[in-house]
Amino acid sequence: MTTRFEPARPRPAAAVLAAAAAAVAAALLLAPAAAGAQIVEARRGMVSAQEPHAARAGLEVLEAGGSAVDAAVATAFALAVTHPQAGNIGGGGFLIVRPPAGPPAAYDFREAAPAAASAEMFLVDGEYDAARHHDSHVAVGVPGTVAGLHLAWSEQGRLPWRRLLEPAIALARDGFAVPAHLARSLAGVLPAMRRYPASLAQFSRDGAPYAAGETLRQPDLARTLERIAATGPDGFYRGPTAELIAREMQANGGLITTADLAAYRAVRREPVRGAYRGHEIISMPPPSSGGTVLIEMLNVLEGFDLAAGGHGTARTVHLMAETMRRAYADRALHLGDPDFNPALPLPRLLSKAYAARLRQSIDPERASRSSPASFAWPPAGEETTHLSVVDAERLAVALTYTLEQRYGSKIVVPGAGFLLNNEMGDFNPAPGLTTAAGLIGTPPNLAAPGKRMLSSMTPTIVARDGRLRLLTGSPGGRTIINTVLHTIVNVVDFGMDADAAVNAPRFHHQWLPDRLVHERGGLEAATRARLAAQGHALAERERQGVVQAIVYDAEADRLAGAPDRRAPGSTVLGY
Ligand code: DON
Repeated sequence: MTTRFEPARPRPAAAVLAAAAAAVAAALLLAPAAAGAQIVEARRGMVSAQEPHAARAGLEVLEAGGSAVDAAVATAFALAVTHPQAGNIGGGGFLIVRPPAGPPAAYDFREAAPAAASAEMFLVDGEYDAARHHDSHVAVGVPGTVAGLHLAWSEQGRLPWRRLLEPAIALARDGFAVPAHLARSLAGVLPAMRRYPASLAQFSRDGAPYAAGETLRQPDLARTLERIAATGPDGFYRGPTAELIAREMQANGGLITTADLAAYRAVRREPVRGAYRGHEIISMPPPSSGGTVLIEMLNVLEGFDLAAGGHGTARTVHLMAETMRRAYADRALHLGDPDFNPALPLPRLLSKAYAARLRQSIDPERASRSSPASFAWPPAGEETTHLSVVDAERLAVALTYTLEQRYGSKIVVPGAGFLLNNEMGDFNPAPGLTTAAGLIGTPPNLAAPGKRMLSSMTPTIVARDGRLRLLTGSPGGRTIINTVLHTIVNVVDFGMDADAAVNAPRFHHQWLPDRLVHERGGLEAATRARLAAQGHALAERERQGVVQAIVYDAEADRLAGAPDRRAPGSTVLGY
């Protein structure tokens, strides 16, 4: 790949200006941070999660003397009950833990391809079949969440395992009142669940959507959680739960067998580390692209004085977007499961020298153009969830996990009561299948037995002078890495407090398609006009990500968090 970036022609400002009027008129979710600021401060511990019952479960574990890992495990199991869009036991994810002393660790519990997987598995009669790739029993990867939570707990937990599942079991067994936003979300997904009777039974009242305030009980899920509480991962990967999964697969052309489930292992890895303006960045290595791309971007941005340019100005947005463009190109070209790609060029991508070369390729006045024009991305889901926890000893945990798309495959395992992921969709579709329609067939991320699909999830912890400074992470598919970048730059370069850092408007560039996508109302009209004149193709979206961040002031020994107002359930609790 020689010409990844070419100078772009300026784009007509008129169209952008026309869109501006509508944007100004739009209701601003992104009102100035001060308008609805809800900073939560605490001395001892804090939990930030996307749903209140789950955050409460984590806080109670902290209050009972549990570690941040214990609390993260309890919160994650509770989210599997109360936030079924993304909270899960049938999916996978990543957890970063930073102890107050000693090395940090990364836990990889990404889903794995079953033994019967192959690079051509999404082809039917030689033709790529998108439904098979994203929306079928074949799209389900071997789940990792239960193994990953258990591994992190076995190494860094304090309370008994069973205690951590109790809140989730009670929420599943006794039910909880469906909040209005979940009622809307469930009503939206029911049509897609009608194919799967167990899904319909679990998430509707005899086919009718739940109304806000009604009680959602999930007795099969409660029993599955009981098995996991009693026997640990064996309660999921062996015995009745594994048999129920395998039976559902076998009956519907899926690939996962009881042997695949028994063979699944979570892995502890070395986090990727970076340095940014005197801060230490600790984040997720491959099979996530997140930490690598994040550090590559921070290395490039370190050479620009962003604070002098100002937050949200055309200059800052341009420099950040050009940086994003370059790092996302590297993501597409180089990254995949490290166990299957022994030559991943991580040292180069993470080096300051490489960043300096990328920086020199950025024209401060003109947008580059991404090429080749035919190279775009496979679709990625927009639903995942992140949680951040700090305990009284300042052990810090950042955890992001997912079912891939909202409610994953939409398939509830009959008799077991939980949703399966459709994470196989994160593999590239087929060897060499790089098309004008936007598919990408580069080798590092093709499916193979036991391989983990490339992810963008970016749970990240920032330290300064050896002390904790910030935890952050977000859902949002490929936008995740840029959302995390925004949070870090907001705190480090712009000195924002927790509320502003989380709620300031965000934008995203991912190399291809060549678009600078900003939140509606997030850039001023004059800024948009200037960016368009520089050659950026602007587009809008309603929201980007849902950040769960905790900011630590080491001098004052104080934790601060703020709910992300983009998502109604976002909750920060401290004590
Ligand atoms: O692992 C990934 O990068 C995607 N499967 C995550 C999907 C996602 O973030 C959806 N989020 N909102």
